[in-house]
Amino acid sequence: MRLLVTGGCGFIGSNYIHYLFRNHEDVTVINLDKLTYAGNPLNLESIEKAHGGTRYFFEKADIADPEAVRRILEAHPVDAIVNFAAETHVDRSINDPAPFVTTNVLGTQNLLTMARSAGVERFVHVSTDEVYGDLGPDDPRFTEATPLKPSSPYSASKAAADMLAYAYYRTYGFPVCITRCSNNYGPYQFPEKLIPLMFRLASTDAPLPVYGDGMNVRDWIHVDDHCHGVHLTLLKGTPGKAYNFGGNAERTNMDVVRTMLSLLGKPESLITYVKDRPGHDRRYAMDYAMARRELGYEPRYTFEQGLADTVAWYQANGAWMESVESGAYREFMNTWYGDRR
Ligand code: NAD
Ligand code: TYD
Repeated sequence: MRLLVTGGCGFIGSNYIHYLFRNHEDVTVINLDKLTYAGNPLNLESIEKAHGGTRYFFEKADIADPEAVRRILEAHPVDAIVNFAAETHVDRSINDPAPFVTTNVLGTQNLLTMARSAGVERFVHVSTDEVYGDLGPDDPRFTEATPLKPSSPYSASKAAADMLAYAYYRTYGFPVCITRCSNNYGPYQFPEKLIPLMFRLASTDAPLPVYGDGMNVRDWIHVDDHCHGVHLTLLKGTPGKAYNFGGNAERTNMDVVRTMLSLLGKPESLITYVKDRPGHDRRYAMDYAMARRELGYEPRYTFEQGLADTVAWYQANGAWMESVESGAYREFMNTWYGDRR
């Protein structure tokens, strides 16, 4: 199979490309990435070395640029596209929503248009549980029938992209599936998100900023389980459908931070409560019964095992953290993130 993967230098996209080369011998991957602060070609160095120029190609481009996407699809005809490229951090979207609309909405629309005119036979659009809004403590988990009610500029831009994907199926019969997943963790995650940020700060005995009361709940999933779900959707998903994926692991932020501190042997006195995020979603939880029934999906990691493996990966890959830190992370810590403390 020849696949165009967008956002393949980011956290989940790079894990997906590693997953493909680990599990499927017959795959050729074209990785299209703009290399924003979140993209790091180093994430794919081993694949580039092993397969570059024969089964792996990298194209630096913007999914919102029609000419660039057209040129790439002409140069590399593909059977399918998996769209991970996005602006992804809720806090950044609160600070400046514009790039979220440009990439997540216009970029997705452009990619759908170019894919359709190139005759691409399958398109998986990677979305998020955040399009559903949030849940109270006793509400049932989100299903695919839950109405979309996004809270942040990030989730609103992802919901808009989902609507466009549905429209391309309904109007043009374009074979698109949507995946909606809960919070991921694992190797190669940029340290602005909760788990790698807390790892990074605790490792250097810096205070850990917990928003509000720390009782917000996320349904944590190891990135390999998400990648497996995306790939099952690519192979077996029914066009025009969205599939939920979750990790069966609802945890409060305080649970996550405490587990991290205990894995690192650090004291709970590092925890610092800070001003809450505006519009902060209280709880996410995914019902993935449809993915289990139709695709055979089941998460393989428990949260405790997945987090221990992830911490071990970050400890063994200090050079990766240093390469990220020397650039975008330092800027992130020194500028607007500092205002939250
Ligand atoms: P990330 O921020 O780590 O990576 C995003 C990647 O997209 C980067 O490599 C970046 O350079 C690239 N990119 C950004 N704008 C682009 C553009 N205009 N053109 C081409 N490339 C561009 O994100 P992630 O955490 O890997 O998330 C990937 C996808 O999964 C996103 O669509 C996100 O909404 C979705 N998702 C993420 C999570 C999560 O917990 N991280 C959960 C559910 C769904
Ligand atoms: P995050 O990793 O940004 O993912 P999302 O907002 O998409 O769920 O945040 C996960 C949870 O952790 C969320 O409830 C916000 C909280 N959080 C903190 O308490 N402190 C932090 O420094 C960060 C980055 C997040």
